[in-house]
Amino acid sequence: MPRLHPASANIGHDDLSRFQFFLAVRGQVFGPVGQGVETAYKNRVLPKFRSEHGRDPKDATEVRHALEQDEIHQIWSWLRRDSQDLLWLYAGEAVDRQYDSIAETCADIDPAPRGSLTLREGLKPPRYLTEIDTHRMPGNFTTEVRPNDLRAGAVYDLGSAVYQMGLGRKNGQFLNDGRGHTVAAYVMTNFPGFRPKRILDMGCSVGQSTLPYCDYFPDAELTAIDVGAPLLRYAHARAELLGKKVNFVQDDAEHSNFPDASFDLIVSHILFHETSRTAVANIMRETKRLLAPGGVFVHCENPVRIEHLDAYGIAWNGWEQYNNSEPYLLGCAKTDFIGMARELGFENPWAGFIKIVGDARKEKAVEHPPPKGYGYCWYLISGCQG
Ligand SMILES: C[S@@+](CC[C@H](N)C(=O)[O-])C[C@H]1O[C@@H](n2cnc3c(N)ncnc32)[C@H](O)[C@@H]1O
Repeated sequence: MPRLHPASANIGHDDLSRFQFFLAVRGQVFGPVGQGVETAYKNRVLPKFRSEHGRDPKDATEVRHALEQDEIHQIWSWLRRDSQDLLWLYAGEAVDRQYDSIAETCADIDPAPRGSLTLREGLKPPRYLTEIDTHRMPGNFTTEVRPNDLRAGAVYDLGSAVYQMGLGRKNGQFLNDGRGHTVAAYVMTNFPGFRPKRILDMGCSVGQSTLPYCDYFPDAELTAIDVGAPLLRYAHARAELLGKKVNFVQDDAEHSNFPDASFDLIVSHILFHETSRTAVANIMRETKRLLAPGGVFVHCENPVRIEHLDAYGIAWNGWEQYNNSEPYLLGCAKTDFIGMARELGFENPWAGFIKIVGDARKEKAVEHPPPKGYGYCWYLISGCQG
């Protein structure tokens, strides 16, 4: 049975066929059934709305409420939500069946590890992570039910990699590291002489996006923080087993324990849309505090931006906010990151869409036109410390 990488669960025949089923359903959700929703909106939902109200829907909320009455949208919504639940069920069962052996492999890493793991007993995870199960992953990122628990990490690693494949992205397959390659390419393309000595990855989860920086900036000391201890235990073992040196620290990206000006490059990947509006502002402020003079930050987000979408596009992409435990998605999609960076005093603030990069040594970062939603690019926000 294949092992995706040394720390991961083995994927057996039945797991594979379950994941293939998930991917097939997901293909329908983003393919023909999704197109059916758009057609139904144009041909049925919108004309009905016009005849009832004598006008077009005034915003995405009205579009959403109108769509929710239509049976194609109901089927689409059910397929999308149930397939999401199946993904976590399949990943969870694959991990639970072999939890002891995964835990043993992770405990059995080199006695002289390259990197390190620092957990902060008593760190209180933010409410936006404890009051919901983000993207409907049962238990979310911080639940622990046994000593040295790393289940959340093993499940997230497997489930999130399969999820990204379901979006058809060039995103590193089971390593799911495309975000790290893309941000590194952006730095290498736009700041060619920049050699950061200290790099921080905020909200690193299991380190999927963190590890590419080890290869692109081999002389740098790489630190990665998250609030979830079960993620970090797994992340540390995963990095060691993949031969990468990272110092994983349990810390809060809103108010961390590092001294001022501790890092030359600060990055994050799909962190903001899973935090509250207050948290986004705090993390931006913390980025400013932690960045050394001459330093650069790049935060990478989902490519959903409401300024480029019509009311239908916002309703379509906003589905996750109302049905997939992503309550901050649209708030993040309308945040004025450039204004925020400017107000904080960053130099050259920039935000835009960058095509997904697979290997930053071979590919440059190239801008992508504003997409209609998830696609083949990420939304990057960057700035420099004067
Ligand atoms: C969607 S995951 C992104 C994982 C990773 N960056 C990647 O690209 O694969 C978001 C992560 O942010 C973490 N997180 C959320 N709020 C945080 C905070 N205030 N401080 C540190 N980590 C946080 C969550 O625990 C979760 O692991």
